[in-house]
Amino acid sequence: MEPRNKIPKKLQTLISEIEQSDILINDDLTRILPTLQLKAEDFWHLADFSHAPQYSYGRSKIYTGRNFEIFLMSWAQNDYTAIHNHGRSDWGAVCFLSEVHHRLYQYDGQSIVLADKSIIPTGAVVPVQGNLVHAMGNLTEQPSLSLHIYGSNFSIEEPDQTTRIFELEKKRIRFTSGEAFLDGIECFGKPSIDVTTNEETLLDYLGIISPFYEKGGNAGISAYIKSVIQDPSVYFNL
Ligand SMILES: [Fe+2]
Repeated sequence: MEPRNKIPKKLQTLISEIEQSDILINDDLTRILPTLQLKAEDFWHLADFSHAPQYSYGRSKIYTGRNFEIFLMSWAQNDYTAIHNHGRSDWGAVCFLSEVHHRLYQYDGQSIVLADKSIIPTGAVVPVQGNLVHAMGNLTEQPSLSLHIYGSNFSIEEPDQTTRIFELEKKRIRFTSGEAFLDGIECFGKPSIDVTTNEETLLDYLGIISPFYEKGGNAGISAYIKSVIQDPSVYFNL
């Protein structure tokens, strides 16, 4: 984690407000964050665009509070998260310091279906709660940044193993403490194999994650993804 004096003063104002609040709701964050006028240039010195290739995006924790954490996500070209929810987050928000590509999904307890594709514009502030299922990243050549605040009504010391990572390419759900790396290794308990999808959702997702597996050198999964993109029945008939 970065020393507090590296955190932009504008963000320190928000941290102080959160620290002084007993109870926070998303409306508080979405009201306060836009007034801070946070800019990408305020955070470049904390960015991590040259992260190791096994990580599918730059994820830097820049502050840990009593019951909340703040991350700066750095998105180089083709950096993307896996499809994920937000575990035990009771409140939170993402502040988009640059444009970020976004996929929203619906999950009914078994099936993941693509619900919306969008590009979230610079300056947008979007509320986050545990049951939000989405994926985000950068499909352009221009690096981008976003600031993520995740809060819980539980103490931060309590272990959180409730973030679900929906790994369609492996037909399984993995449980983590919050990371949403593609092909990640963090895994609490046994992965669940109870996840299905449809062809539209699968092909959209595989097209996005294919560059990561090619770059990351996972030849087996990369070849499998290419074969499914060519013939989706390979995925659905197995
Ligand atoms: Fe997320």
